[in-house]
Amino acid sequence: MIALAERMKSVSESITLAVTAKANALKKAGVDVVGFGAGEPDFDTPTFIKDAAKAALDKGQTKYTPTPSFPELKQAIADKFQRENGLPYEPANVTVGAGGKACLYMAFMAVLNPGDEVVIPSPFWVSYPEQVKLAGGVPKIIRGEESNGFKITPTQLEKSIGPRTRVVILNSPSNPAGHAYTPTELKALADVIVKHPAVVVFSDEIYEKLVYDGLEFVSFAKLDERLLDQTLTFNCHSKSFAMTGWRLGYIGGPKPVIDAINKLQSQMTSHVTSFIQIPGAVALNDPRGAESIETMRVQFEKRGKHMWERLSKLPGVTCVRPQGAFYCFPNVSSYFGKTVGGAKITDAVSFAATLLEQAHVAVVPGNDSGFETHVRLSFATSMEQIDKGIDRIAEWLKKIG
Ligand SMILES: Cc1ncc(COP(=O)(O)O)c(C=O)c1O
Repeated sequence: MIALAERMKSVSESITLAVTAKANALKKAGVDVVGFGAGEPDFDTPTFIKDAAKAALDKGQTKYTPTPSFPELKQAIADKFQRENGLPYEPANVTVGAGGKACLYMAFMAVLNPGDEVVIPSPFWVSYPEQVKLAGGVPKIIRGEESNGFKITPTQLEKSIGPRTRVVILNSPSNPAGHAYTPTELKALADVIVKHPAVVVFSDEIYEKLVYDGLEFVSFAKLDERLLDQTLTFNCHSKSFAMTGWRLGYIGGPKPVIDAINKLQSQMTSHVTSFIQIPGAVALNDPRGAESIETMRVQFEKRGKHMWERLSKLPGVTCVRPQGAFYCFPNVSSYFGKTVGGAKITDAVSFAATLLEQAHVAVVPGNDSGFETHVRLSFATSMEQIDKGIDRIAEWLKKIG
């Protein structure tokens, strides 16, 4: 038997996977499952970006490239940061990795020493704590209360920072709760961070384009000049351009950290796939990119409002209105301790598993995001599916005694 490395013990098994596997098995068996699990847009990648990839292949962009990507892509990213976010990053301040996920992981590897603490507001994206542990760090979870729209307060943030704190993660708009900080709220957090110059903020801004109800998005590093030295800004093409499968993410930040990440990547994967790089630049530079984002955003805004309105009307369910991303995160804990069709509901996992089994609706339990009282529903699906799924949930909830 091949013995596994000690570090594998620190990585948790995803509780969510079991529910996803079950949903897939049911679908395969021909059951009509309404899926609210998707963490990706249901739109296709815009044609002009796909065409750019075909052209890249035809031009022979099939060989090794520089580690931080072709200069054209770095330039396009630096331009995007300057134009859209007001961040004065030069090409030397940016690098590219295989999706937002790989960018975050490389950055943790580049800055964390064993035992360093990373402050993670909950509910959080499932991979943050696991990546932190793999990089030798210690996740320190602070709870964003539902009563405060899942947002952490400056006081909470201040209290969470101690002598071992190295990184604070901020993710606005957020997965899984769809909450987003206003510029004023974010500035109040920034005022805490600048008092701790040794702390680095990982600002995960991958949902920046998907904001609703006129909410103004602002990049964290833009809030105070001093933050440029204290922030790594993460973004990717995955959600904005419906390019999840392409694996294209990027980081902006101080050059020494970017250089360290490049050193790491050069010994790991070398660089991202060659023929997605120029299309990645085209997506950012071409006005059709912004147009396609807006088309998608408008749809998500309508669907999100509709899903939230319907969820809020369900008896025993409370739901914070999402202001960004494409998720609703209702609290279903009033059903815990009850029984339905012979199954006992004890937490979000058993709620999701029973809902799937009995009503054929797939949702994601919040347990892996630090909230076992909530479930995540993605509205990256059609209005018809949203109505069909919530009709089923409503009928099923009536049976819970
Ligand atoms: C908050 C957050 N950060 C990062 C990622 C990773 O994005 P990518 O698909 O580009 O790796 C995701 C993906 O769902 C996410 O929700």
